Amino acid sequence: MDGDLIKLVNKLQDTFANLGGELDMPQLVVVGSQSAGKSSVLENIVGRDFLPRGQGIVTRRPLVLQLIHTPTPGGESVSSYSEYGQFLHLDKRFTDFGEVRKEIEAETFRVAGQNKGISKLPIHLRIFSPNVLDLTLVDLPGLTKIPVGDQPSDIERQIRNLVVDYISNPNSVILAVSAANVDLANSESLKLARSVDPQGRRTIGILTKLDLMDAGTNALDVLTGRVYPLKLGFIGVVNRSQQDIMTEKSMRDALEAEEEFFKQHPAYRNISQKNGTRYLAKTLNQVLLSHIRDKLPDMKARLNTLMGQAQQELNSFGDAAIYGDANQQGALILRLMTQFARDFISSIDGTNVEIS
Ligand code: GDP
Ligand code: NA
Ligand code: MG
Repeated sequence: MDGDLIKLVNKLQDTFANLGGELDMPQLVVVGSQSAGKSSVLENIVGRDFLPRGQGIVTRRPLVLQLIHTPTPGGESVSSYSEYGQFLHLDKRFTDFGEVRKEIEAETFRVAGQNKGISKLPIHLRIFSPNVLDLTLVDLPGLTKIPVGDQPSDIERQIRNLVVDYISNPNSVILAVSAANVDLANSESLKLARSVDPQGRRTIGILTKLDLMDAGTNALDVLTGRVYPLKLGFIGVVNRSQQDIMTEKSMRDALEAEEEFFKQHPAYRNISQKNGTRYLAKTLNQVLLSHIRDKLPDMKARLNTLMGQAQQELNSFGDAAIYGDANQQGALILRLMTQFARDFISSIDGTNVEIS
């Protein structure tokens, strides 16, 4: 995630908290058919290898992943050594993200059984890091039609209800994941997203597996918005394949290969700048910023009220207030705080975000 955006949001959150308000950030929810690549996409957004991925039904419980920004003493972001994960169900700090994945698997088996069953009971995982925004991401079991293993006969309905629970929250940004090697007309994720977001205002279409399309076919029409209208558009990605997972291909190598794929592909060469995991991350940053901008009027109003109140208090106390220790301190803090908030608001009001 982008360092400047992280700093910006954290300052704003502090300021809002000082003003007695709250800046609730949106949660990102992935939706899509089984094995469409949902977990792969989420993992790429976080930039860490820690989610179980694979063929068939792997994600069998919702994973509510809370990213929590931990400031470093110097106020600067530092590299990964100070990152750790912590589960709600376990009193332990995980610094090894491979261990985090193992624990997700074990906890999935513990509650949802050994045999492909699902549970709507979420796993809560928090990742503490100086390099993240306070943001919640939700990984969900894939939409499926036919029960397998211990799944009940109404598995389709159960998963659908579970997904709708999460995406109907207006504060959710829906990442509707579809595999490019399946006809988009059959995309369950888009159907469900449309049912809760008919205008397509908070839905981002993500097209995975572009590398697996039949020779001679491409998804240019979908990616350029000519097939299915979404305000936030469609973004194509190439995640790591099952082979890549088995050979433990690194995230960095995968990102490079993905970029090459778009640059070299005759159909995508011209739109390579508007596709891929990096562009997805950029788009998410924009979505978050516009969400924050929507909250600014509220913040300004709160600020004005507080300043009015402070002024009145000062006036009513007269000189005594200014020379009294406690009040003097209070007024000073308030002045600094409001000044800071003002600078801050103007800094984001005028932000023309170009995030790399
Ligand atoms: P989920 O079930 O939707 O969470 O999907 P996963 O992220 O677990 O991925 C399912 C399988 O598809 C895994 O074997 C991934 O390696 C593979 N996969 C996901 N995205 C892509 C992609 O863009 N290209 C290729 N070749 N394989 C992918
Ligand atoms: Na899967
Ligand atoms: Mg999954």
